[in-house]
Amino acid sequence: MKNILVTGGAGFIGANFVRYVVANHPTVHVTVLDKLTYAGNRANLAGLPADRVRLVVGDIADARLVNDLVQQVDAVVHYAAESHNDRSLRDPAPFIQTNIVGTYTLLQACVRYDVRFHHISTDEVYGDLPLRNAGMNDAADKFTPKSRYNPSSPYSASKASSDMLVHAWVRSFGLRATISNCSNNYGPYQHIEKFIPRQITNILSGRRPKLYGTGQNVRDWIHVDDHSRAVWLILTQGKIGETYLIGANGERSNLTVLQAILTAMGQPVDAYDHVHDRPGHDRRYAIDATKIETELGWQPQITDFSTGLQQTITWYRTHESWWQEEKATVEAAYQAVQTTEA
Ligand code: NAD
Ligand code: DAU
Repeated sequence: MKNILVTGGAGFIGANFVRYVVANHPTVHVTVLDKLTYAGNRANLAGLPADRVRLVVGDIADARLVNDLVQQVDAVVHYAAESHNDRSLRDPAPFIQTNIVGTYTLLQACVRYDVRFHHISTDEVYGDLPLRNAGMNDAADKFTPKSRYNPSSPYSASKASSDMLVHAWVRSFGLRATISNCSNNYGPYQHIEKFIPRQITNILSGRRPKLYGTGQNVRDWIHVDDHSRAVWLILTQGKIGETYLIGANGERSNLTVLQAILTAMGQPVDAYDHVHDRPGHDRRYAIDATKIETELGWQPQITDFSTGLQQTITWYRTHESWWQEEKATVEAAYQAVQTTEA
């Protein structure tokens, strides 16, 4: 693997992956294709060597541009997407266009030039799981590669659609592709509309954190660096046509995570507001990562959530110029639809 195209490489997870590749695989050259939507940011790639990383600003649904770039590389790692559930509930159109039509455009180019494709997807394609009861059998109660697709939101339905396209292109056109479905990532460079950075930057900017509903919903947190290591392994050693689930046994309720943030930032544990719940809010996600662990030997390395969280808080504290300008706009957009519960 000498030349790779990383779509969405100026976003949260894509940029962390590009940084991982530059730091760990010195012979690889990365071309980033990114539209620089509200979620993309040139600054996420700042400081990377120009002879290793090139940023092309453009749309993954632009077939001419995509054809031109795909024929220059050995592999495509496809991160680009509209990624936020709340936005997809307000306006699904860009989710259909980018996540479905954009993925289709990349698949066509990869078939035409016989280029290896890795599709980044999400555990949300499987819908949600019931909240745990005491004594429940853990292993049988998680998503596996055999779980039924059952997406809940326009975002997760568009990602499920893109997964289906990849499967069809493998079977019908011989595309050399793999898919990974990962759980909730946290770490540096995550957009401040998302749960963890939103609450950290709320506290740093003198606002109260906002919790949807009762906060009992569970997410399965993984540090973004562990996700990057897993994707590289699948790209280089994964079996064509296979799906790998990535997760780090990081199940926590939103309330628990929020209280951990409040405590780590020296705030009382009840210094937050309850706001109205997300419509259709998925209750719980949990990944069974046995397949990638046993077949590819992957294990998460950042297993202490409180250390990872503390590092993330420090990153937002020391990178105020990265998020501050946007903060008021992001909160105003939320306030237009989210009222505080009495
Ligand atoms: P993000 O919103 O932070 O970044 C998305 C990037 O894609 C941005 O840089 C944006 O400019 C770019 N982009 C959007 N539309 C584009 C288009 N039409 N053409 C080119 N570039 C475009 O998202 P993220 O959280 O980094 O997620 C990246 C990928 O990982 C997505 O596919 C998402 O579904 C998947 N994923 C995310 C998580 C998570 O916890 N955030 C977990 C599992 C999977
Ligand atoms: O599971 C993987 C998915 O994780 C990815 O596919 C998505 O791209 C990514 O955005 C994320 O989706 P979630 O909807 O789980 O993430 P979000 O950060 O929006 O919310 C996490 C949880 O926190 C969710 O239960 C809703 C809740 N929440 C969110 C926000 C923004 C709050 O309670 N308060 C908030 O202010």
